[in-house]
Formats: sequence, C-alpha cells, structure tokens
Amino acid sequence: MRARNKQRKHNKWSLHAIVWSLVGCVLILHLYSLVHHRDGVGEDGKVHFSPFPMIHELEEIEEELFPMPSARSKRNPRAEKRRPKRHTTLIEEFLDENSQIRHLFFPDQKSVIDPRIGTGNDSLYFYPGRIWLDTDGNPIQAHGGGILYVERTRTYYWYGENKDGPTYHAHDQAPARVDIVGVSCYSSKDLWTWKNEGIVLAGEETDLNHDLHKLNVLERPKVIYNDYTRKYVMWMHVDDANYTKASTGIAVSDYPTGPFEYLYSKRPHGFESRDMTIFKDDTGIAYIIYSSEDNSELHIGPLTDDYLDVTRVMRRILIGQHREAPALFKCQGTYYMITSGCTGWAPNEALAHAADSMMGPWETMGNPCLGGNKIFRQTTFFAQSTYVVPLAGFPGSYLFMADRWNPANLSNSRYIWLPLIVGGAVDEPLEYNFGFPLWDRVSIYWHKRWRLPDRWWAAQ
Ligand SMILES: *[C@@H]1O[C@H](CO)[C@@H](O)[C@H](O)[C@H]1NC(C)=O
Ligand SMILES: *[C@@H]1O[C@H](CO)[C@@H](O)[C@H](O)[C@H]1NC(C)=O
Ligand SMILES: *[C@@H]1O[C@H](CO)[C@@H](O)[C@H](O)[C@H]1NC(C)=O
Repeated sequence: MRARNKQRKHNKWSLHAIVWSLVGCVLILHLYSLVHHRDGVGEDGKVHFSPFPMIHELEEIEEELFPMPSARSKRNPRAEKRRPKRHTTLIEEFLDENSQIRHLFFPDQKSVIDPRIGTGNDSLYFYPGRIWLDTDGNPIQAHGGGILYVERTRTYYWYGENKDGPTYHAHDQAPARVDIVGVSCYSSKDLWTWKNEGIVLAGEETDLNHDLHKLNVLERPKVIYNDYTRKYVMWMHVDDANYTKASTGIAVSDYPTGPFEYLYSKRPHGFESRDMTIFKDDTGIAYIIYSSEDNSELHIGPLTDDYLDVTRVMRRILIGQHREAPALFKCQGTYYMITSGCTGWAPNEALAHAADSMMGPWETMGNPCLGGNKIFRQTTFFAQSTYVVPLAGFPGSYLFMADRWNPANLSNSRYIWLPLIVGGAVDEPLEYNFGFPLWDRVSIYWHKRWRLPDRWWAAQ
C-alpha cells in the first residue's frame, strides 16, 4: 500500500514535470526566435554569432571612418552641390589617380605585408588593400584568382592573372588593359606566406592567332583536380581586346605547379562567356558558371567527367540581374554564390545568392558585407569577388577573396581577403516563405587587420 501510494505520488509528480518541461521548451524556443529576429536587424554595430563552433572575434563589426578630402570641395562648390550622392563622389575619388585620399585605397610601399619579417607583431595578419610581398620580396601578382588546396601535401596553391606590365588603352573606347603575361602560381601552407612558383601558363609572344597572344585577354583562371584522370585542370576567360570573343580556355597539367598545357577555347554551350568560375562539388562533379547574354544573366552547367569540356546540360540563372565575378561555395548541403554588378573596373555592391542544388533555382539574398562604413558595404570594400576558400575544420567559416582593381595601373591592384561566415540571422524573409528562414545569412566582415584564429593554426 505504502509502496503503491509512493508509486502514484511519483506518477503524479512525473506528469507535472512533463507539463512544465513542455512549457519550458516552448518558452526557450520563443526566446530563441526572438534573439534571432533581433540579429536580423542588427546592421548597426551588433555582433552576429553563427551557430557553428566559431571565431567570434572575426564576427565583430568594425567601423571605418573615411574622410573626404577638403580641398576638392573648395575647388568647385557648385559642382559639389550638384553631385548626386556622397558615395558616387567617393567612387570618383577611388578612380582618380590624383586623389588626395588615394593612399587610403592603395596604401604605399611603406606599409607592405612582408612575410620575410616573420616574427614581428604583424606576423600572419592580413591587411586588406596593402601591398603584399611573396617570400622573394616581390609584390604578389595573382589577380582575379582562386585557390586550390591539395590535401595530401597540405598545401594551398593560389592561381591568378599576372598583370606585371604597363596599363594602357588599346583604343579610345577600350577598357584599361595589360598585355597577357600569364597565370601565376604561389604556394603556401598557411595562406599568408606565399612562395612564387612562377608562371604556370604563359602568354604567347609571337603567334597572333593564339588565344593567349599577349594582345588578347586572359582573366579569372581557376584550377581544380580531377580524381580520375589525376590532372590539374585550369579554366579561364579568354577574349580579344574588345571582349567580343567571349570564350573559355582550358589547360591541363600533371602537377599543381605546372607547366599547364593549353588545350583550346570554346564558347560553352555555344553562348558568350565572360566572367566565369568553376566549382568542384564534394560529389566530384564540377560545374562552370559564366556571365552570358551581354552579362545580363549567368549560365551554369556540369563539366564532363574529365573536366575538359562542358556537357549539354545548362541552366540560365539570375536572369536580367546583370551579375559577374561569381564565387561559389557549399555549406551544409546548401550552395552559395557571391557576385558583383557589372561596372567595368569600378567597384559596386556584392550580392549573396543561395540554392539547394547547383542547377538552381538560385535566390538572391542581399548584400553580405558588414562593417566598414556604408560606402564600403556598397562597393564590396572597393573590390570585386573572385573566390571563396573553405577553412578546413571550421564549418561555416570561409576566406573571401576579392580584387581591388586599380584601373590607372592594373598591376598595382590589391587583394581584399576577409572572413566570410555562414549562419546566424536570416536575411529579409522571402515573400512566399511565410517568414520562415530558408537560407542562413552570409556575412563578409570588414577588418582593417585580422588573422585566422589560433584554433585554425592549431588544426593545420
Ligand atoms: C608589438 O606590440 C606591442 C604591444 O602591442 C608593442 O608594445 C610593440 O611596440 C609592438 N612592436 C612592434 C615592432 O610593432
Ligand atoms: C576593336 O575595336 C576597335 C574599334 O572599334 C577596332 O579598331 C579594332 O580592330 C578592334 N580590335 C579587335 C581585336 O577586334
Ligand atoms: C604601377 O605599379 C607598379 C607596382 O605594382 C609600379 O612598379 C609601377 O611603377 C607603376 N606604374 C606607374 C606608371 O605608376
């Protein structure tokens, strides 16, 4: 009897516990959604935390003051008044070779990042925009580039355009250009100390009919490894000086450090292809993504198994959105892409896009840039996307690579590398999803000076 009573009392108590636990759960869920909601509007100096084991210091919002030169406004006050918005004038300053604040965009020789002075306070720190030297002490020449990680040797290879030559205009209407030097390759174990591995695909000096004749255009080289053929395959944008050829070129090598053998060029699927990238999925299937139809849309399609050609499958995405400079990555089964607008060498606003499948549908989420100041965010920190590198061992954490083009002297263009974090708050809810978040937010955080966290180094 006693025992039964105790039993009943116990049962009653359990029921209470269950009810109160449920109430607690509901409350916690409610609180969680409230906190997330707050995050969503936190553009103003708040910290966005991702749900991944994270690197909180990289997620801090860092403001940046950006003074306009005073003398300029004195020069012609009426012209100053007529100027539409403050940010257009800053872009003009940026594009003006003789701007008094040019050093803010293109810091001079005195502030170089020099890995040979390895033990100082600045060791392993990225300084977006500064001149960055390789282990020989020369400025790194790898523009519009991408990174290949070779797991077996734990080495990163950075491929990019070598623009080490004079900038000129082929004719009045032509955009600024540098003759093709070739594709540079640099190697690194830490993403900071880069050894020059030389030009792994050289421009052509004499044969005028060669795609890579120096008077043509070679942009945005990207390299992926084919597990079946064991070849390193490079895709790039090849064009004539007037950008009318609009084709992709393909080259191949047995080694990451080349030399790469140039195979051929083609218009993928028969369409114009200008800014482009390739993306190797963890399934082993690789894709090409390129700006087409006068840069008004992107095309996306799988490559053949040997990565040397496209298949017949192609989807048009972001139709009418006029995006270029695509950079792709995958996070927890979702595909993400950063793109820029199309304004030539002038910087513009980045957008993040997401999809459940590479072949779409792709949805545009919004501007991923955080911190700095308004004009920084509206110009992708005065730069243009080129690649996104996953940080091994840190799910949700990436390195965002962009180019700060210097149209007056393209060889003196700079690299803007910043942390990119997936997670945390959602972007503005989509109209048809009834307020439920579909995609994790993609955030690129401005930092004047930053380094990969100790935990990342420890994992290397
Ligand atoms: C290194 O940092 C310390 C502390 O922040 C500072 O006192 C020192 O002057 C710095 N050294 C150099 C070479 O910048
Ligand atoms: C580029 O265009 C200019 C002017 O329209 C023309 O004179 C020139 O021949 C063109 N060059 C090429 C390589 O098509
Ligand atoms: C362009 O920049 C390079 C450094 O990358 C420099 O050596 C060269 O003198 C500059 N050219 C001009 C015309 O300013």
